[in-house]
Amino acid sequence: MKKIIFVLFALLIVLLVVWLVLRFNKGNNNNVVYDNGYVASTADEDVVIYDIDDLESRAQAIIPQGGFDYIRGGAETENTMKRNEMAFDMVDIYPRVLTGVNQPDTETSILGIDISLPVIVAPAAAHGLAHVSAEAGSARGAAASGTIMSVSTYASSTLAEVAQAGEGAPQWFQLYLSKDDVANQNLIRLAEDLGYKAIILTVDAPIGGNRIRDAKNNFKFPLPLPNVPKKSGETKGQGIGAIFAAAKNDFAPFDVMYVKSLTDLPVIVKGIQHPDDAEIAILAGADAIWVSNHGGRQLDGAPASFEVLGEIAERVNNRVPIIFDSGIRRGQHIFKAIAMGADVVAIGRPVIYGLALGGWRGVVSVFDYLKADLKRVMWLAGAYNIDDIKNIKLRKRCETKWCE
Ligand SMILES: Cc1cc2nc3c(=O)[nH]c(=O)nc-3n(C[C@H](O)[C@H](O)[C@H](O)COP(=O)(O)O)c2cc1C
Repeated sequence: MKKIIFVLFALLIVLLVVWLVLRFNKGNNNNVVYDNGYVASTADEDVVIYDIDDLESRAQAIIPQGGFDYIRGGAETENTMKRNEMAFDMVDIYPRVLTGVNQPDTETSILGIDISLPVIVAPAAAHGLAHVSAEAGSARGAAASGTIMSVSTYASSTLAEVAQAGEGAPQWFQLYLSKDDVANQNLIRLAEDLGYKAIILTVDAPIGGNRIRDAKNNFKFPLPLPNVPKKSGETKGQGIGAIFAAAKNDFAPFDVMYVKSLTDLPVIVKGIQHPDDAEIAILAGADAIWVSNHGGRQLDGAPASFEVLGEIAERVNNRVPIIFDSGIRRGQHIFKAIAMGADVVAIGRPVIYGLALGGWRGVVSVFDYLKADLKRVMWLAGAYNIDDIKNIKLRKRCETKWCE
């Protein structure tokens, strides 16, 4: 009898150990558990990527649900978010043969910065939800990939940590204006002193979108956002809605002029979805336009970002460069966005997924995947380089009489 009890007890201990290993060691990571119980990955490895949808499912398995839903989620019905990806299917790329293209070149430049592929990191809050290295890890990955890191005001790493991790690689600082002028000036000065190469002024979030996943999860940031001015109050334990509410809640052309007056760095206006707003931003002094619907996280019921790109590019008419984001997941998406008028594209969520699964090396894997995928598309579509893509005409779906 004693023997049976001993065996059962031993079995129980083994099961407990297995449960603990599975609970805190999902995906082969040695995770960090913060004092409030939030678990963040410490993975440090290359990630095999079949496509970004698959990457997302694997990231979901290792990011705690509240954090994952905050990252993945869109506003309200999430229809605009879903359309962001689907909209690329409205147009097709003609396969071109007999072009002689071999080993196409993905290098390009934006605002005087050379990059190895026309894809950069979009500014996104709280990379610390995905990995203990947070934006510093993403910055190291971006630098190793030969591209630009954009850092949000709502980053988990400090601007100094990100700059240090980038080791001199190009970085842009994304500013959410505070109600406090001194805080705005200090942040811009700090970014300049640390060597950031441009200021991204995001103007599409005077208020947070209606994020139902976050409401249901009662999601609050489990880690501080150290770049937010102290006067705006504590950030750890706040939801994104409260953080947006504490920042500036209205934007006008004057805000672009104001930021221009504070810095000699190029100012990029992010969140443009209407040709008139592109015009206004340029007249107010924008050095570049960032066409984005914030990954479908702000106004649900808005068009996909790709759907408005063509008309905005037409209005901008090459006066300033255009950066495009929202829904980029494949080489064909990059190709189509450039053919439609973008100079470079940016990715938000895919970087965070790569970071979760592999740390900075996972971020490199994401850029390697997109570069190889874009290169294949260029090869099959007869484009030698990025300038070639700009001259390629896409084909509208169903424009023949045989389509419905
Ligand atoms: C988790 C998350 C946080 C974000 N935080 C910011 C932010 O702080 N500032 C900003 O300008 N945009 C922010 N964005 C929007 C991104 O810059 C970008 O527009 C969007 O992610 C692009 O869509 P994609 O994720 O489909 O690539 C955020 C996006 C995500 C997914």
